[in-house]
Amino acid sequence: QERAPCLLLLLLPLLLRVSANMPEPCEVDEEDVRCFCNFSGLQPEWTEAMQCMVAVEVEIRGGGHSLEPFLQRAKDYEDPRQYADMIRALRVRRLTVGAARVPARLLLSVLRVLGYSRLKELTLEDLEVTGTLPPPPQPLEATGPALSTLRLRNVSWAVGGSWLSELQQWFKPGLKVLNIAQAHSLAFSCEQVRTFSALTTLDLSDNPGLGERGLLAALCPHKFPALQNLALRNTGMQTPKGVCTALGAAGVQLHCLDLSHNSLSSTASSDAPECVWPSKLNSLNLSFAELQQVPKGLPAKLSVLDLSYNRLTRAPRPDELPQVGNLTLDGNPFLVSEGSTLQENLKNSGVVPDCAHSPLSLVVSGTLALLGGAQAFP
Ligand SMILES: *[C@@H]1O[C@H](CO)[C@@H](O)[C@H](O)[C@H]1NC(C)=O
Ligand SMILES: *[C@@H]1O[C@H](CO)[C@@H](O)[C@H](O)[C@H]1NC(C)=O
Ligand SMILES: *[C@@H]1O[C@H](CO)[C@@H](O)[C@H](O)[C@H]1NC(C)=O
Ligand SMILES: *[C@@H]1O[C@H](CO)[C@@H](O)[C@H](O)[C@H]1NC(C)=O
Repeated sequence: QERAPCLLLLLLPLLLRVSANMPEPCEVDEEDVRCFCNFSGLQPEWTEAMQCMVAVEVEIRGGGHSLEPFLQRAKDYEDPRQYADMIRALRVRRLTVGAARVPARLLLSVLRVLGYSRLKELTLEDLEVTGTLPPPPQPLEATGPALSTLRLRNVSWAVGGSWLSELQQWFKPGLKVLNIAQAHSLAFSCEQVRTFSALTTLDLSDNPGLGERGLLAALCPHKFPALQNLALRNTGMQTPKGVCTALGAAGVQLHCLDLSHNSLSSTASSDAPECVWPSKLNSLNLSFAELQQVPKGLPAKLSVLDLSYNRLTRAPRPDELPQVGNLTLDGNPFLVSEGSTLQENLKNSGVVPDCAHSPLSLVVSGTLALLGGAQAFP
């Protein structure tokens, strides 16, 4: 099988042969479920990645190497149909590729080949994508994998802000979850971006330079019609109201909004225009937001409001809060001084919010007791 595609791995059997006194770069667990390769050596033995062909979850770290040399071989894959049967037999559902310089053309060859796989989740991390992306084949058909989840972290693109619209043409429609962290550009060319018709979760967390202005540019209007969950942890947001304005401009109808780990100011600036929150918004996370009081301009009614780990020095008055079902206030200074036994009891009464992808957490509904006589909670 001289021409057999070596998996994912940039799929290409490799020419380099190195003497054998090196640690094995790849490890497959006993159940053949997970395979991890770390090609950090000077002259990595890429063919070792063949071992991963049996695994369901594959992670390949390229040790910062340039994958340019594979580009020549990629020509062999211009018509991936010849490998279709073999690729269909792969068990891989989850693939992570990281720490490498990858020519855009090579990345797309890989995506085309993976179009025959049953890959569901793709993660690209610490990649520098060089060169321009070739136009997709005509007639315009999505040739890549039918992913449900795509995660990108610290991926830079030579093509700048048009990367998303160019990349998205190489996936079959149906993506449900998109995470983009440590992005180098989130100022998308919105006219070119096609509608993400099935995307329910967009996670832009860990883009500290984004801010409300950047959010406006990233949330291409009407391109996310199915969006329900938006995570904006650590994205340089300044006021809930500013975020609300950006959401309004983008026309997204969210259910859950995560603004935790932003340094939010309590008061909306007075010249900020009045803002109408998405009507279905029912969960708002304002934890770890350095709040000294409950911010103004919150939605009037929520089923979950997380205000934990802020700097509230007294219990919020009912008139400061929206009408809310599950309120979380733990980790605020006013509670710490109330004594720890109470805290323990509260923890045991926790319920879990049902926002997709929220890590399980305790929502201390019992905290309501502390607010003594808060009529705002039915
Ligand atoms: C890969 O190997 C290098 C060198 O041994 C090591 O420094 C690095 O932490 C490893 N990376 C991962 C993700 O394990
Ligand atoms: C981001 O990825 C580049 C490689 O493209 C790497 O050199 C850099 O260390 C990564 N940055 C972080 C913060 O991990
Ligand atoms: C509180 O959260 C739980 C779990 O997510 C949910 O079932 C319940 O409806 C919420 N309560 C209210 C009043 O919204
Ligand atoms: C709110 O965000 C914090 C930090 O990101 C997280 O730990 C917590 O579980 C979230 N709360 C809810 C209700 O999802």
